[in-house]
Amino acid sequence: MMTHETILTEQRGRVALVTLNRPKALNAINRQLTEELLSALEGFDKDPGIGCIVITGSEKAFAAGADIKEMQEASYIEMYSNDWFSAWDRMIAVRKPIIAAVAGYALGGGCELAMMCDFILAADSAKFGQPEIKLGVMPGMGGSQRLTRLVGRAKAMEMCLTGRMMDAAEAERAGLASRIVPAAELVEEAVRTAETIAGMSLPAVMMVKEAVNRADQVNLTEGLRHERRVFHAMFALDDQKEGMTAFVEKRAPDFKHR
Ligand code: CAA
Repeated sequence: MMTHETILTEQRGRVALVTLNRPKALNAINRQLTEELLSALEGFDKDPGIGCIVITGSEKAFAAGADIKEMQEASYIEMYSNDWFSAWDRMIAVRKPIIAAVAGYALGGGCELAMMCDFILAADSAKFGQPEIKLGVMPGMGGSQRLTRLVGRAKAMEMCLTGRMMDAAEAERAGLASRIVPAAELVEEAVRTAETIAGMSLPAVMMVKEAVNRADQVNLTEGLRHERRVFHAMFALDDQKEGMTAFVEKRAPDFKHR
């Protein structure tokens, strides 16, 4: 696997584990980390040996935001010309599932990175927030849109306007995190969950990701139509025959496309 300076990558079976690794800056997301993370994700997406990806940080911080020191002196024209943060569209193009395993701070761009993943497993130590307002700015990696869709307008508006943090319990209640696990077991549990997913039929998994993500983007009629078409298409997969036959024969499925 490639060596990086700001992230660590390892493969555990069919799971790729990416650990953000700028401990001195609480994993603040700078340009280098952005590029290394995105190219690692794209590599795993293409790698037939990988079925699911986990992104995690440290015990103290998943990521404390975009790198403030890198942006401090930037001008409008620099931000605009470089279309700062637009590279993250590449993450949205990743077709395999990505799980965020969040312990400690997930603030600003850190919270936004977690929300760009397909779901968030939160350690009991997790703290989510969009504190950009305290810096005189606002979320720029999707927070105003994704947080609102995930937790609703009231909580999203309050969090973006005050910068207050949500703890793990509130995040789970509000629908930001799928589950809470003890901090010491976070990575292990995330990898276990990813292994479960990686054991399913990969094309089926990718179609599920596509269909669920569609719910954010289109109205219900279009979303249901899309779901039905994808569901029909799954009957072209030999893994559908295998999965259903295995159920009827009371045995574990042996999916071909993993
Ligand atoms: N950017 C750059 N450096 C950061 C950083 C960030 N987002 N967050 C933390 N750091 C650095 C600190 O500057 C400090 O470095 P030095 O040792 O060189 O001083 C180091 O990480 C440790 O941080 P603290 O000493 O502040 O640690 P703490 O435990 O006292 O506080 C914290 C932790 C509450 C998370 C605090 O670090 C903090 O508030 N960080 C900034 C959070 C923030 O505002 N995030 C939003 C960034 S803007 C953004 O993300 C825009 C967007 O929408 C994409």
